[in-house]
Amino acid sequence: MTVIAFASDHAGWRLKAELMTLARERGLEVLDLGVNSDDSVDYPDMAEALARTLAEGRARWGVLICGTGIGISIAANRHRHIRAALCHDVTTARYARLHNDANVLALGARTTGPEVARDCLNTFLDTPFEGGRHARRVAKLSGETTPAE
Ligand code: RB5
Repeated sequence: MTVIAFASDHAGWRLKAELMTLARERGLEVLDLGVNSDDSVDYPDMAEALARTLAEGRARWGVLICGTGIGISIAANRHRHIRAALCHDVTTARYARLHNDANVLALGARTTGPEVARDCLNTFLDTPFEGGRHARRVAKLSGETTPAE
């Protein structure tokens, strides 16, 4: 079964719970890396946990949520194997997959409502990578080829 891992800070855990339900309804296996309360945590620690989970092959997809999605996506993208896309609507979620082959969807719980967030996750999971010229660019992101090539 395809596994999707979720992690959030205190600002994002309620939206995370909602999206985990959606993922389960879609037949995915959900890995909850926390948090599950309003107690304050640091978003880089949550991004780190998710990056490690994907590196270990324990999940195919990731969802990261903080207040704006900004901090947690910056932290996640410090890892070469992560392509975290901060999405705000169906269009950004679609292109994140089509052109960037994003493996992590990042969302802001304070900036994106639950209905739009659900649409983002559905679109993210339903959209394949287009490949072609985008595959060359994505390879450069992970250092497989140098940007000058
Ligand atoms: C936490 O208050 C907030 O700074 C965090 O959730 C996030 O928005 C950072 O980018």
